[in-house]
Amino acid sequence: MSPRITLSLVAAMALTFSLPAIAGPTITLHTDRPSAKINPAMWGVFFEDINFGADGGIYAEMVKNRGFEFPEPLMGWSKLSPPQARGELSVRDAEPFSPRNPHYVRLATTTASPFGIANEGFRGMGVRQGEAYDFSAQIRNVAGNPGLQVRLYAEDGTVLDTVDLRDLSAGWQAIRATLHPRDTDAKARLAVLLTAPGTVDLDFISLFPHNTWKQRPGGLRADMVQALADLQPGFIRFPGGCIVEGSTLAYRYQWKNTIGPVAERPLLLNRWNVEFLHRPTPDYFQSFGLGFLEYFQLCEDLGAQPLPILNCGMACQFNSGELCPLTDLAPYIQDALDLVEFANGPVSSPWGARRAALGHPTPFHLQMLGIGNEQWGPQYIERYAKFATALKQRYPDLQLISGAGPAPGDDRFKFAWTQLRELHADIIDEHSYAKPDWFYGNANRYDAYDRNGPKVFMGEYAAQSVAVVSPKNQNNLECALAEAAFLTGLERNADVVRLASYAPLFANTTAWQWTPDLIWVDSLQVTRTPSYYVQQLFSRNRGNEILPLEIAGQDSSAPLYASAARDTVAHEIILKVVNPANHTAAVSLHVPGLGATPAPARVTTLSGNDLHGINVHGNPATIVPVESVIPSVKDLSIITLPPQSLTVLRLKMP
Ligand code: AHR
Repeated sequence: MSPRITLSLVAAMALTFSLPAIAGPTITLHTDRPSAKINPAMWGVFFEDINFGADGGIYAEMVKNRGFEFPEPLMGWSKLSPPQARGELSVRDAEPFSPRNPHYVRLATTTASPFGIANEGFRGMGVRQGEAYDFSAQIRNVAGNPGLQVRLYAEDGTVLDTVDLRDLSAGWQAIRATLHPRDTDAKARLAVLLTAPGTVDLDFISLFPHNTWKQRPGGLRADMVQALADLQPGFIRFPGGCIVEGSTLAYRYQWKNTIGPVAERPLLLNRWNVEFLHRPTPDYFQSFGLGFLEYFQLCEDLGAQPLPILNCGMACQFNSGELCPLTDLAPYIQDALDLVEFANGPVSSPWGARRAALGHPTPFHLQMLGIGNEQWGPQYIERYAKFATALKQRYPDLQLISGAGPAPGDDRFKFAWTQLRELHADIIDEHSYAKPDWFYGNANRYDAYDRNGPKVFMGEYAAQSVAVVSPKNQNNLECALAEAAFLTGLERNADVVRLASYAPLFANTTAWQWTPDLIWVDSLQVTRTPSYYVQQLFSRNRGNEILPLEIAGQDSSAPLYASAARDTVAHEIILKVVNPANHTAAVSLHVPGLGATPAPARVTTLSGNDLHGINVHGNPATIVPVESVIPSVKDLSIITLPPQSLTVLRLKMP
């Protein structure tokens, strides 16, 4: 990291027992006061297949509509033939390789000129020179002795690699090949071509980078998972978001449809396909290649607690708001009970056995489950109560997450809190998408929360630079610092706020619906936003006990926002301070426990000259954390906080 930004710390003169007469504020850390434990899983991530986050994102499949099951079966595909080639392409469904994947294409030609189909990928396929790509398809030789060739084309039409497929059989057969592109291209295409007279049937045409996360065939994009791993998330909430609810109940997310052979997972319209007329994505569907087993596995890989959210018998209230009658709710509740058994049950139980059959005999240690996403109103409370009764009866230790609607203080929110408090709900999910001012104004929000009521999951938040769901919103420094100020309030109140996650997580720059987002990607690049670095600094400097602090002598027109924690394992004090002002702040740091004994400190600062500053593909490091070490800090040292900054200071205790 560049030493672009420095933080200077000047040890105070021998003023061990009285505060020095300095102009700036004093931050006092009460190292002697007993303090509450911070949930080790507090800082997590919220995953939803929005903005091409899963299909076209972290799920590394490069072929769009690989099974020809989109409502327009050739969406994403085009006929490819030089002018002299004669051939026929048809979509058929007689005798498919799987009845759960009924459509396939037939190619037929009478000439030796290449004729076939090409796939555009998710707005182009990203391929890298020097890397291998695993092709696979279901192929049936129908007539003749057809030659088949797989080609990878660059955007400009250059052939990047070809592989011939031979010995095709008369029945459906899975054929595999490996491609090695000669060049790197962000918008490559994959083609399958007949090169000799004959007829073939093709289905489930797939291309994955060989180098997926943990080298798992058919797995996840390594660079995107690495960005998550670098956050060290305490939990992963999945699979959403509104896609849990569906625009109608028929389009809700059903976890049982997302496990087992990928070709047999039924395709579903992605709710974000049609949600925003100003950002249409007609080619957005859920293949469920990233399904519940893969989500649990991702949590296990990253050491994060799984936090699945299930439909509670309500479709999205911004759409149809369709309700499953209370009398018909049993299958929904059964899905929840079965999910807990799928995650945790012994292999002797029906769903534990299913997990084992899918290759994971050991349990996933599910401790939390969300009932509904962003629901509101009495209909939600009635349904939540039924889920809670059934789940608690069988799994009394399971922590249930309930919803409080889409806004953090309206009538829907107040109603939900009142009702859920009466029901002794475990953890309530609060959401806030608002201008930066809201986040500064709510830094003390949880100071007044009832310590004996339900706990809080600040499950969706993001500062909006322009307005909620405005396509002009930017992930700029101003928003990131406002979020950081808010997060200090969450950390100071970690006895109430048990979980927190920014939303949404991913967006593909070529196909997004919602901005801002924590991480932006395209087919080859991953760019971490200033908000990402705020999340990362809180997550990686979490500590395990709250340390009470006071800020005295503040200039009320330019307040600082701070929180502190103790890491009793590393014997460190962790101080986080946001200075939103456009000038440096000199702060006296009063740490009674430190005494006059000098202690080393590690400092990380996120700042920038321009509040509108952003990180973009090609220039992803405009705003990044900068680290430095200060060899010796004493009680009443003066620290200098750069303008427009978040500073994290880790102090070794004697
Ligand atoms: O994060 C985007 C959407 O915002 C989520 O799907 C939903 O829960 C909220 O309204």
